[in-house]
Amino acid sequence: METPYLTHITSDDFKYVYEPAEDSFLLLDALEADLPKLRSDRPAICTEIGSGSGVIITAVAKALPETACFAIDLNPRACDVTERTATKNGANLNVVNMNLLNGFRSNVIDVLIFNPPYVVTPDEEIDSYKSPKDNPFNDNIIKSWAGGTDGRFIMDRVFDAMDSILSANGAAYILVIEENKPKEIIANMKTKGFCGSIIAERRIRGEHLYVIRFQRISQTLDL
Ligand SMILES: C[S@@+](CC[C@H](N)C(=O)[O-])C[C@H]1O[C@@H](n2cnc3c(N)ncnc32)[C@H](O)[C@@H]1O
Repeated sequence: METPYLTHITSDDFKYVYEPAEDSFLLLDALEADLPKLRSDRPAICTEIGSGSGVIITAVAKALPETACFAIDLNPRACDVTERTATKNGANLNVVNMNLLNGFRSNVIDVLIFNPPYVVTPDEEIDSYKSPKDNPFNDNIIKSWAGGTDGRFIMDRVFDAMDSILSANGAAYILVIEENKPKEIIANMKTKGFCGSIIAERRIRGEHLYVIRFQRISQTLDL
């Protein structure tokens, strides 16, 4: 997969929107390594929650041109930057300013991608966020990284809803760090009927990053 051009994004944009970093690029590398599987699965709908700059979903949209690709972000400025990234790179993308997957019908997503806010913080830091209504310029960049207790405040909502998010043959690619307790996440998801495999990991300064791919256990038994 080609890394999209990001030269159109200004330093002012990056005051408000998450700047791609090692976590973003590890997730991109993991998706690239899984591209043969993704292509052979012929997904109809791929959705990234929290697209930020749009670097990941734009690369995926270009690699899977027959898949309808959606980019979701709570931050309106991230949606604007994602739109510009898609346009700059000639990707066909649907960008939606939305909280997680609230506006989606159940069980329609074939590929889910999420690099969530994963940093361990006090929960109050998340509760103290201003809503987009009260904060039209959305200068809460903290939303891009603050993850509450165990860094799981936001990602657990997605794990809890996975059964109603993914299609029958769907797969989810989620980035986590050691402090999020990846083994515990995988064990919890097993009780919900999902098999989690660590498909990429990287140690960087002060962080151990993992990409976990989740599929329904029933599906992995069919392979
Ligand atoms: C760690 S950043 C990842 C950005 C980009 N995907 C990347 O890898 O560079 C997390 C993103 O999730 C978005 N986000 C946080 N909470 C969200 C929510 N409840 N619904 C949708 N997006 C959310 C943030 O605005 C931010 O853009």
